[in-house]
Amino acid sequence: MKVLYFTATGNSLYVAKSLGGEILSIPQMIKQGIYEFSDEKIGIVFPLHGWAVPPYVVDFLKKAKFNTNYLFAITTYGIYSGAVATHLKSVAKESNLNFSYINKIQMVDNYIPTFDMVKEIKKEPKKEIEKNICILKKDIEESKNWILKESFLSKKSASYMFNREGKPFNKKRLKVHVYGEGIDNYLKVDDSCVQCGVCASVCPVSNISLDPTTGKIKLSDKCFMCFACVHSCPKQAIHINGEVNSNRYRNKNIKLNEIVKANKQ
Ligand SMILES: Cc1cc2nc3c(=O)[nH]c(=O)nc-3n(C[C@H](O)[C@H](O)[C@H](O)COP(=O)(O)O)c2cc1C
Repeated sequence: MKVLYFTATGNSLYVAKSLGGEILSIPQMIKQGIYEFSDEKIGIVFPLHGWAVPPYVVDFLKKAKFNTNYLFAITTYGIYSGAVATHLKSVAKESNLNFSYINKIQMVDNYIPTFDMVKEIKKEPKKEIEKNICILKKDIEESKNWILKESFLSKKSASYMFNREGKPFNKKRLKVHVYGEGIDNYLKVDDSCVQCGVCASVCPVSNISLDPTTGKIKLSDKCFMCFACVHSCPKQAIHINGEVNSNRYRNKNIKLNEIVKANKQ
């Protein structure tokens, strides 16, 4: 079994590792130009962004070819999953992918514009993560055919908030960064930055570089808002406009170097 994953703060990597099998980082596959995979079972694990599949994962799926009889997807999310399965099904249809199993698992929510990470971490025990990972693992071992069902209301509210053309956020309704547009007004680096380069090494799209002349980090426009840099900065020097506070998060079972290894370009 192969499990492809994308992670910013370790939740999806932890789930991918817990399922067993060979784990492959999507950013590393993209870096190496590998888009075709063959195995008896193939899975993809990714964080849910804005009630939908992150545009980075959508782009990967549009290029990917999976030679398998059992393709599964698991999304990790924090509070509310909207219509992620409906979105994934529409991406799959466009890309000729046939998912046998689509499910979700609730974990710590790393969305700092809305949540205080200290409070979110306190809620973790109630989410029964280990128990739910066991359920997912068993389902996959038994090659269960099952697609997450979403209510009419979830689909309706998701389509009201987000469009589905690679730009997941409806800018008029949610004041957030839009994929592919400049990041300068959305992300700020404060003076506590020591140019250690951790941010650049966890960024899956090489959006961050160090400018030796100004002594500051430079942001380009490829950001799709995974927040890996913001959460991984050892000085908490990177900030999102309107964030609740400077508390940051990484899954307790995942080390920083695993995120670097997964995302470094
Ligand atoms: C930009 C962004 C948007 C998010 N949107 C949602 C959301 O709509 N609903 C939700 O429950 N969690 C949302 N989250 C939280 C993540 O889905 C969740 O914390 C996930 O497990 C993180 O996985 P990772 O550690 O593998 O990156 C969002 C996170 C980010 C960074």
